[in-house]
Amino acid sequence: MFSDRPGKVLLHWYASSARQLPWRETTDPYQIWISEIMLQQTQVKTVLPRYRGWFELFPTLEALAASSVDDVLKAWEGLGYYRRARFIHRAAQMIVSDFEGQFPANFDDIMKLPGIGRSTAGAIASFCFNQCTPVLDGNVKRVLKRWYAEPEARDKTLWLRAQQVIDGSGDPATWNQLMMELGASLCSAKSPNCSDCPVHTFCASAFSVDVTKELRKQVPVVDVHWRIHLFTCPEKGIWLTQRPDAGIWGGLWSPPITVLDDRPDEDPTHIHQLTHRRLHLYPLQSDSDPIGDGRWVPSIEGYALPTGIHHLLDKMI
Ligand code: ADE
Repeated sequence: MFSDRPGKVLLHWYASSARQLPWRETTDPYQIWISEIMLQQTQVKTVLPRYRGWFELFPTLEALAASSVDDVLKAWEGLGYYRRARFIHRAAQMIVSDFEGQFPANFDDIMKLPGIGRSTAGAIASFCFNQCTPVLDGNVKRVLKRWYAEPEARDKTLWLRAQQVIDGSGDPATWNQLMMELGASLCSAKSPNCSDCPVHTFCASAFSVDVTKELRKQVPVVDVHWRIHLFTCPEKGIWLTQRPDAGIWGGLWSPPITVLDDRPDEDPTHIHQLTHRRLHLYPLQSDSDPIGDGRWVPSIEGYALPTGIHHLLDKMI
């Protein structure tokens, strides 16, 4: 394994300086899968406690498949990008129905599961089944572009590069972890630390990375203004509706929301920032008949509410 010089140096660096993370200490596909989905859009430090807590709620794949999507959304509360939770629930049911409850080991079968793209499938297939399938997430793309001094390289080229290097590694599981670790530490987006990088002599961009040129075009953040209709009643509690699956806060429960065309003549009670949207929330208390399909709930406990709505409600107590 790791027959070439940079491979050996990197392996040594990884063995001596990588973070110890719980999903690096297992090859169980259920655990690896959950960790990889959580890590798709959420930082390691946020994922750590949620990853541990997950298996107390859903100890097995069967338990996950047998629970309701609402329970899964509730368990996902605060992690954002809730589509991932709905995909996880659907994938668990598919594993039970189509794969006899065994997480598939075949790469093409892994790719059939909702919420799993080529890179996540590559991570699972390598970590659990030792297959030579590369990971190509944002960090690994950046490392490869720098390594080969190909700042403009497209995904097609990067997949080829990623396949070449993992094929030569002899240890695909460690290789994928190591590339992600390098991208998350020494070869970070904002401040590459070439002086401390053990493979700078092999890297075509060492000491010459211009991070300002690398930065991707920022997608503009759009301001939206939402009226949050609070129907409350001492006997019945609060009126909640379920958000449509597609779109912001899909599948979560919330007081009815209507979109305001213009910024109203009042200050928002709460502003919640998403990646591409800034949500300005304007609550309106009402004791008339509630609007929208929904239900009275005596308490919001047990319902998966968006973090922005939690914060709004906290401010109103
Ligand atoms: N991000 C995605 N997968 C990861 C992993 N296995 N370890 C650390 N960060 C990751």
